[in-house]
Amino acid sequence: MINSFTRKVFKKMIIGSSKTLNLVKGKVNFPETLDPLGLYLHVPFCKTICPYCPYNKVLYDPKKMKEYAEAVRKEIEFYSRIIKDTEITSLYIGGGTPTLDCDILCDLINLIKENFNLTGDICTESHPSTVTSEMTHKLREVGVNKLSIGIESLTDSLLKKIGRSHDSSEAIRAITTAVDQDFTTINVDMMFALPGQTKDMLKNDVEKVIELGVDQISSYPLYAYPFTDLGKKVIEGSIKIPNWFQKYRLFKKLEQTCFDAGLLRTSVWTFTRSLAQRYSSVTRERYIGLDPGAGSYIGSYFYLNTFSLEAYIDSLKNRLPIAVRAPFDVNIQKVFWTYWKVYCTRIPTKEYEKKFEEKFTKRFRIPITLARILGMCYSDGDDIVINSRGSYWVHQIQTLFSFGGINTVWGSCRDDPWPSELEIIR
Ligand SMILES: C[S@@+](CC[C@H](N)C(=O)[O-])C[C@H]1O[C@@H](n2cnc3c(N)ncnc32)[C@H](O)[C@@H]1O
Ligand code: SF4
Repeated sequence: MINSFTRKVFKKMIIGSSKTLNLVKGKVNFPETLDPLGLYLHVPFCKTICPYCPYNKVLYDPKKMKEYAEAVRKEIEFYSRIIKDTEITSLYIGGGTPTLDCDILCDLINLIKENFNLTGDICTESHPSTVTSEMTHKLREVGVNKLSIGIESLTDSLLKKIGRSHDSSEAIRAITTAVDQDFTTINVDMMFALPGQTKDMLKNDVEKVIELGVDQISSYPLYAYPFTDLGKKVIEGSIKIPNWFQKYRLFKKLEQTCFDAGLLRTSVWTFTRSLAQRYSSVTRERYIGLDPGAGSYIGSYFYLNTFSLEAYIDSLKNRLPIAVRAPFDVNIQKVFWTYWKVYCTRIPTKEYEKKFEEKFTKRFRIPITLARILGMCYSDGDDIVINSRGSYWVHQIQTLFSFGGINTVWGSCRDDPWPSELEIIR
């Protein structure tokens, strides 16, 4: 009730309307010329399924993996006809566990390089159990230059509590192996606000991964999505996760430990060594997502592929696997653009004004004035910088929307491969 009211107030203040934003069935409508794009490849297979994971994934099955790879080839060929000459500024591979079958992954990367004008980074996520020197070598050979490893924590009791399939020794081995290869950036995904986690546990984990030589730490608070097994247990009360206040204290400890070690904040959740290049999964202005459950933002539409692996494979026999779409009018485009800049903790207002031919303060006067009064941001020349307090509250606002949106969209897409209507922003 309070959440729904707060959501409405924020929507009115930021988007300028309290209407819902819906994804519905509709034609694919690509513009004739496209600005540079990011490319996202989703590999939906995992060896084990983590009880907290909201992502679109299935248990690994070698036969299914081959069928999936064949379908991706067709999707690549389809898009290649449309965007062969468009500059692809980065390839980001997420999952699932993309590195589960490294040979198939490398074949797909090579196919993408042959079919698109890829000019930028190739980044992939990985699970610690898949990181070996043979695997890292193969990835470097096909051009992957940024690697992320999902280590979550180095405290075995916490890893056990969240039902993770690896332990701290495996995580340490994976980091050491990856650091030995000449990747431009090694990122580790960690989680905080885990059930029973203390500030000291978090501090020790963060200090240890920095000592092992990673370039970047991305640490997200544990989101207990109600449709996940962990989320159900939290609702039942059999698992207790930290409350807002405890989460805030853990967040401050995470931040201080990273700053003490000389890392800089590079987004709400990431801390990077000062000379390292940032590893980032988001913030491309327009992108195409390949695979089940992937989203694409092209021209003035957002598209969502079917979540079902079977429906994805089947549809690619004769059509694109896009299930639903939402028009992003210029108002939503402004909010989207600003959202990702806020996420990166710096809003270049002059860039906004050039892009949208409108004063930044005209569109966002109320939220920015409020954020200034509440001590969440400050000006640095023409930029607005989100500070530590602001970063924490960005997360809270994000949770308010993503819990409603992701829970309905991702939850419903699991039940129906071809939904007719979904609410993105309630
Ligand atoms: C797709 S996974 C990374 C690759 C690989 N599947 C793995 O788990 O190691 C991306 C990361 O998202 C984070 N994550 C997953 N579920 C989460 C949740 N419920 N709350 C917060 N972070 C989560 C974890 O840090 C995880 O490593
Ligand atoms: S967290 Fe990673 S390994 Fe676990 S189920 Fe999700 S995608 Fe798979």
